[in-house]
Amino acid sequence: MSIEIEKMLKRHSVRGFLPTQVDRNLLERTAKTALLAPSWKNSQPVKLFVISGDTKESISQKMIEDADNGVPINPDLKMPDQHDWPDNLHIRMKKHTIERMKYAGIQRHEKEKRLEFQRKMYKFFNAPHLFIFGLDAARPWSILDLGLAIQNIMIAANMSGLGTCPLASSVYYPDRIRETLDLDKNIKLISGIAVGYPDPNDPINQYYAEKLPAEEAIAWYGG
Ligand SMILES: Cc1cc2nc3c(=O)[nH]c(=O)nc-3n(C[C@H](O)[C@H](O)[C@H](O)COP(=O)(O)O)c2cc1C
Repeated sequence: MSIEIEKMLKRHSVRGFLPTQVDRNLLERTAKTALLAPSWKNSQPVKLFVISGDTKESISQKMIEDADNGVPINPDLKMPDQHDWPDNLHIRMKKHTIERMKYAGIQRHEKEKRLEFQRKMYKFFNAPHLFIFGLDAARPWSILDLGLAIQNIMIAANMSGLGTCPLASSVYYPDRIRETLDLDKNIKLISGIAVGYPDPNDPINQYYAEKLPAEEAIAWYGG
């Protein structure tokens, strides 16, 4: 593998952003990389909603209000219970949660700080832009197409000096987004990403999730 490809793919989730808006041209070029992604028989089921400014703030406020009022989350793509994951995956997830909280300066017993971190997620870590990905009249296979579109955007953003964080939490209250953007009920909102310039002084951005050694995930056959 050439150094260029490794560099291109080197990305990590950014969870602290500068308030600087991304230039409209760059934002458009980045968003359009979603259209270059492959899709099942070229079905192209992915809808992308680029949300900034007051509209983003309004979605954020509504989600925080719901969370503070104890409204249960209701994602369109149902979440498996933590304990439904097989042990080997669950262990990695637990480790990630502990590490992420450590870099956020939060200890397990600090309930109020953990709630504040959750609110930060509903503010998309203060990123100036939120990309929400939806599927229109989709089939289960379309989830793969959506993931590929998201990854295109994250890599393109990274190459332009932008940071991103995929955020399942951005669609925990999808009706709030549909109501704000006046979207059809049939558009299912699957995930979002925060987009902006990374804040180099936010300690959480020093966190790099541990990746598996190649031999644990990749097997070679036939030479
Ligand atoms: C579908 C999806 C949803 C995610 N949702 C969140 C989220 O709500 N909050 C968060 O802090 N990170 C979220 N992440 C980021 C993962 O925690 C992160 O990708 C993983 O720990 C690996 O780290 P890396 O992205 O830095 O390589 C999500 C990632 C994916 C793929």
